[in-house]
Amino acid sequence: MVSARLNGLDKPTVWSEFGDIARETGAVSLGQGFPDWKPPDFVVAQGHAALDEGVHQYTRPAGHPPLVEVLSKRYSSHLHRKIDPLKEVAITVGASQALYLTLQALIDPGDEVLLLEPCFDLYYGQIKLAGGVVRPVPLAVDVARATWTIDLDALEKAVETGRPKLLLLNSPHNPTGTAFPLEVMTGIAAIVARHPNLLVISDEVYKYTVYAEAAEHVHFAALPGMFERTVTLSSAGKTFSITGWQAGWCVGPERLIKPIQLLLPFVQFCVSAPIQHALAKALMIADDPYEGHANYYEWLKELFRSKRKLLADGLERAGIRPMVGHGGFFLMGDTSRLLVPQKYLDERTPAAPDGVTRDWALCRWLAYEAGVIAIPTSPFFSPPNKHLAANYVRFAFCKSDDTIREACDRLEALTKHHLIEGDR
Ligand SMILES: Cc1ncc(COP(=O)(O)O)c(C=O)c1O
Repeated sequence: MVSARLNGLDKPTVWSEFGDIARETGAVSLGQGFPDWKPPDFVVAQGHAALDEGVHQYTRPAGHPPLVEVLSKRYSSHLHRKIDPLKEVAITVGASQALYLTLQALIDPGDEVLLLEPCFDLYYGQIKLAGGVVRPVPLAVDVARATWTIDLDALEKAVETGRPKLLLLNSPHNPTGTAFPLEVMTGIAAIVARHPNLLVISDEVYKYTVYAEAAEHVHFAALPGMFERTVTLSSAGKTFSITGWQAGWCVGPERLIKPIQLLLPFVQFCVSAPIQHALAKALMIADDPYEGHANYYEWLKELFRSKRKLLADGLERAGIRPMVGHGGFFLMGDTSRLLVPQKYLDERTPAAPDGVTRDWALCRWLAYEAGVIAIPTSPFFSPPNKHLAANYVRFAFCKSDDTIREACDRLEALTKHHLIEGDR
């Protein structure tokens, strides 16, 4: 009765399972990645102003003219070339829809998409809906240094041994928090340059949250020869603490953006016009001095730097090693010092009916016995690679300082009795 396309999409997921546990237990949540504070006043004010100004009717399907104009100016500077506001930008319902439409526009059934795992779990379902096939390439983890990086040799091998149509990049990265440095991005660009049929989607939703000293966001499409091969995706949600506004966009060469623009009016006539209008204005104001900083983005970086440190220090006290991160909303914890009680390791759950992985068991234990929600990383891997997630748990720090402190105190109270001997 229902389209075969939807087969398997109705199963319980990490989000439904840990959402239910959070409701059942009232646990403190460092789970889902949305800020638990109000957006900046200047952004909310532009929301009110857009409604007062009377922006209530349809706008252009590919994007409200004032917004595509502002974005084209910004990206002309990010990508060091003139971006055409009408032909090289498409406005979407969040980055989620930007991704959906890009995959629908570029993928034919059976086409391979390279994913660097762990990766944002939405990618799997969207690739499936487009008829694509996931070809996973695990990131290389250096346990001693607590870092994640892209194994360029493994990536090139995957490109050469398969027939991938697309490479999906994400930096700053969900879930590891890595902002891949210029030399790694340049290495990827060299691989892409050697394979003329490979296209790239660069998901850059966390680009304004690069908080680590000496780290910077690299716009992949700004690298030599990469603009013509890349659709860059982003959205306003993470930058302005307005994830519910769902305003996103695609930027790229006309040949890749045109098919996305063609699809758009079949999905919705346009993205909410007042939201687009408000965002265009907010983007301009964000460049002004803000709360003692040169602009809003500098203030934001500082905010995330301090929240990340608060969480990292607290996790350290709880015997969880904070891995190196540079940007985004998440900190990856190495939990290998923790002894997970056997009863949790033996469980089967609606989302893991064949038995749980260690990371999943550990997160259930933390939720039920410490009252803290964190997210296991196995859902960010495809089935053959889920074992690589065993020691790793994702903690969100886009939460109030009180929430982060309370969560860390609760974790410490539980884990101090469950550390592998000799470590304390
Ligand atoms: C890596 C990544 N890409 C895309 C999205 C979706 O962004 P949006 O809320 O704008 O749809 C998220 C949201 O968590 C994300 O983490």
